[in-house]
Amino acid sequence: MLQDIPTPTSRQSRGCVLETERLALRRPTLADVKAIAQLANDRRIAEMTRRLPFPYLPDHAVEFVNSLGEASGDTVFLIELDRQPVGMVGVDWRAPELPELGYWLGVEHWGQGFATEAARAVIDFTFEEFDVEHLISGARVANPASRNILEKCGFQWSGVELHRFEAIGSSTPVDCFKLNRSVWSSLKNWGTSTRR
Ligand SMILES: CC(C)(COP(=O)(O)OP(=O)(O)OC[C@H]1O[C@@H](n2cnc3c(N)ncnc32)[C@H](O)[C@@H]1OP(=O)(O)O)[C@@H](O)C(=O)NCCC(=O)NCCS
Repeated sequence: MLQDIPTPTSRQSRGCVLETERLALRRPTLADVKAIAQLANDRRIAEMTRRLPFPYLPDHAVEFVNSLGEASGDTVFLIELDRQPVGMVGVDWRAPELPELGYWLGVEHWGQGFATEAARAVIDFTFEEFDVEHLISGARVANPASRNILEKCGFQWSGVELHRFEAIGSSTPVDCFKLNRSVWSSLKNWGTSTRR
């Protein structure tokens, strides 16, 4: 059932596990901080994400996991492959009318379609659980892989904005994207046709 006007606690993944063909997505805990820090501590990740610091230390991971307490409004999932963490995906509800999809993967896991698979699961979760009309996301103009993921998920380009990226210490152009519920719903219902 759809929930309207999500309150902070209602937006959490609430211990829910999402399973895709190859991945399991679950709420991160303090037991994951070492793995999270090892995966995230790479400049190639930090420079493409707005808020990840570099270097990314275990204390950053502790602070992040602790921030996901009852008061947090975010929907955050640790991405696991064969029960090993490989990255993170989630929805930032800081602007409740503009929930924002974000994701990153450890570098050794790039190039295998995992981010697209994880993003699709979280997009489905968001539209199925919450009464929102659209999701937004963004990718640095220098990040064709992320732009490609968003387009494969049905997001449409909506313009370029300047956003500050913590790891580079300055603002940089970001391609902004939007996915409307109607587009998502249409893609989900696009059945197969047969040829005779
Ligand atoms: C962006 C990121 C999540 C991609 O993860 P991934 O699992 O490798 O992505 P996927 O394999 O699902 O999809 C990437 C797509 O971009 C394509 N791609 C990769 N590099 C590319 C490039 N330099 N130019 C054009 N397309 C590229 C891939 O071929 C793939 O498309 P395809 O499935 O049609 O072949 C990963 O590189 C990452 O974590 N980067 C740092 C953090 C980040 O950028 N996060 C997103 C912030 S907006």
